[in-house]
Amino acid sequence: MKRVRKAVFPVAGLGTRFLPATKAVPKEMLTVVDRPVIQYVVDEAKEAGIEHFIFVTGRNKTVIEDHFDVQFELYNTLAQRGKDDQLAKLQQLQPTPGQTSYTRQQVPLGLGHAVWCARDLVGDEPFALLLPDMIMQSDRGCLKDMVELYARTANNIIAVQECDPAEAHKYGIVGKGRDAHTGFEITGMVEKPKQGTAPSNLYINGRYILQPEIFSILEKQERGAGNEIQLTDAMLKLADSQAFYGYHFKGRTFDCGSPEGFVEANVAFALWRSDMRPRLADTIEQLVEESKSR
Ligand code: UTP
Repeated sequence: MKRVRKAVFPVAGLGTRFLPATKAVPKEMLTVVDRPVIQYVVDEAKEAGIEHFIFVTGRNKTVIEDHFDVQFELYNTLAQRGKDDQLAKLQQLQPTPGQTSYTRQQVPLGLGHAVWCARDLVGDEPFALLLPDMIMQSDRGCLKDMVELYARTANNIIAVQECDPAEAHKYGIVGKGRDAHTGFEITGMVEKPKQGTAPSNLYINGRYILQPEIFSILEKQERGAGNEIQLTDAMLKLADSQAFYGYHFKGRTFDCGSPEGFVEANVAFALWRSDMRPRLADTIEQLVEESKSR
């Protein structure tokens, strides 16, 4: 069984739900507390043992590349000013030379198409796929547990979480079969099911481990929902010949592609910081109280 060494981060979406913030700044570079959203996702991949980080970028996204590059002037200035702690923190986040690759999705034709753009960089091996606008809060990274499940099952793994059944039509939903190892067998998948038709309330939360055969399916893929090339449609086809397992993630997921999810993520991650919690908790309480009279 081949190990999961590479991760793909599709960052070519337009981020229209977050305009005007995302007109000039990629949504992946908006900050949650003091780190850009993309950093959380890359850190999750690192924690899971990923060795190579593949970004599928688009126009106006070069700042993401800059973020993961060495900034000589800044590093020198920090060193000269004796700000060793800050310098060490930056260097610790820095990928090592050759650990990152970038390719462009020239036209945003959908998530399935973005993943297909990474085919040559991934090659003939299983890979992790992390949607960078979904960030997770938990003691153990979601992908780390998925890699462990993969070691027991091989094949394909999709992370899921429960949603309000009335909201299921907004997500990709999986059907749940028998429990297997630390996950379960996936019996079906549907992208944004019509209301009342969802096979469960387990939604796909943006973390996958996929086999490379997905690329030959995506190559022939026709457009699906929203006139986009859909990853879920391709996974459904792959499920005809390969098993898919679900990993039920028990932490929290924040959709930072939407203003609400982004604000919630900021509050949640700040409250997990011991240096911020006491003051922030008090302020939130006061603000909630004051807002009641508005
Ligand atoms: P989303 O649909 O959440 O991203 O795609 P979006 O299209 O940027 O968002 P809105 O709806 O306009 O606000 C999920 C992930 O897939 C990537 C996005 O960057 C996001 O991480 N994506 C989507 C691509 O890389 N290319 C695409 O053509 C579409």
